[in-house]
Amino acid sequence: MTRFITGCATAALLAGCVTAQDAGSEIMAKGFVDPGMSVIAYEARCPANVAWSLAIHGGAGVMQRESMSAQTEADYRATLTDVMSSGRDMLNRGHSALDTAQHMIMGLEDDPKFNAGKGAVFSAARINEMDASIMDGRQRDAGAVSSVTVVRNPILAARAVLDYSRHVLLSGEGAEQFARSQGLTIVPREYFQTQRRRDQLEKKLAQKQAYNTPETRFGTVGAVVKDGCGDLAAATSTGGLTAKEFGRVGDTPIIGAGTYADNKYCAVSATGTGEYFIRGGISKLVCTRMEYIGEPLQTAMDYAIHTELDGLGGDGGIIGVGADGSVGFSFNTKGMYRGAATSTGVMRVEIFELNESGEDK
Ligand code: GLY
Repeated sequence: MTRFITGCATAALLAGCVTAQDAGSEIMAKGFVDPGMSVIAYEARCPANVAWSLAIHGGAGVMQRESMSAQTEADYRATLTDVMSSGRDMLNRGHSALDTAQHMIMGLEDDPKFNAGKGAVFSAARINEMDASIMDGRQRDAGAVSSVTVVRNPILAARAVLDYSRHVLLSGEGAEQFARSQGLTIVPREYFQTQRRRDQLEKKLAQKQAYNTPETRFGTVGAVVKDGCGDLAAATSTGGLTAKEFGRVGDTPIIGAGTYADNKYCAVSATGTGEYFIRGGISKLVCTRMEYIGEPLQTAMDYAIHTELDGLGGDGGIIGVGADGSVGFSFNTKGMYRGAATSTGVMRVEIFELNESGEDK
C-alpha cells in the first residue's frame, strides 16, 4: 500500500520526496501542494532516466483556430506544457505512473481554465459537483469519487479510495466524509466558482437550453502514463456538464468508461458526453480490442471513437498509452486540448484537428 501523502519531516527521508522547494519545474512550486499538507510525498520506486511516456488532455470540443484568440491558445499551450514538464521530471526521477498521473491531474484541477477542480462547471443547483477516478494498471486497482463539492482536489479523494478503502467508487456526502477522514483539504464551495462558469450557467438557464450543447459539455482533464518500471496508470477529473440535474454522474468516475488501465495492454482517459462513454464502455473497449484481436493502440482507439462512439451518436475523445510505450489520441470533435511527452525528448501540445501534413491546424 502506497503512502502518498505524509508530513515533510518524514517524507524528506524518502528518496522520492517531492517538495515545492525541490521540484524541478516551476508549476510544482506554484500550487501543487495541498495547503493542508506541508508536502506531497511520492516515493520513487523505478529506475531513474529509463523509458517512459505520458499523455494528457484538457477536454475535447468545438475549439477551432479561427474562433480562439492567440492569447487563449498560448495560455492553454503553456499550461499543458507546464503540467507535462512536471510529469516528465517525476518520471525521470523514477516516480510511478500512478503518482505522476495523479500529480498532473492536480495541476489541471488547480487551473481554472479547465472543467475540473477550481473552475469546474456549475450544476443547475448552482454548485460544482465533481467526479474523479484513478486506476493502477498493475493489479487493476481503482478509486473514484462522484458528486463531491468541497474536496479541493477530487483526484486525491479518488486516490485515497484506491489506497485506503475497500471500495472503488464513493459518492456525495459519503465520499466527502471519507476524504475528511483521510485528512484531505476541504474548502468552501466558493473556492471552485469562477465568473466564466457562472455566466455559462446563467446563459444556459436563461435560454432554457438542454445542457448538452457543445460549448458547455467538455473540459474534463485526464492523464495516462507508462513509467520506468513499465507500469501503466490512468486518471480523469471533471465538473461534468453545465446545468446538470438530479445528481447526474458522467463517465469520469466509471471505471471502464472514463478511465481504464491494464499493464498488459493500455491506459486510457476519456473526455466528452459521458452518457455515451458509459454506454460504450469506451476506455475498456480499447484494451479489450488490443487483448482479443491484437490491434495496435491507435487502431483500437480509433475504433472506439470513430465506430463505437460515433455509432452511439456520442462525441468526445480519448488519450492512451500502450504497454509498448506508444501514445495515441482519437477524437470526433473539432479539437481536443492534448499533449504527449516521452523519455526520448518528445514534448508536443496540440489543440486542433491535424491537417494532411500532421500539423496542428
Ligand atoms: N465526460 C465528462 C462527463 O460527461 O461528465
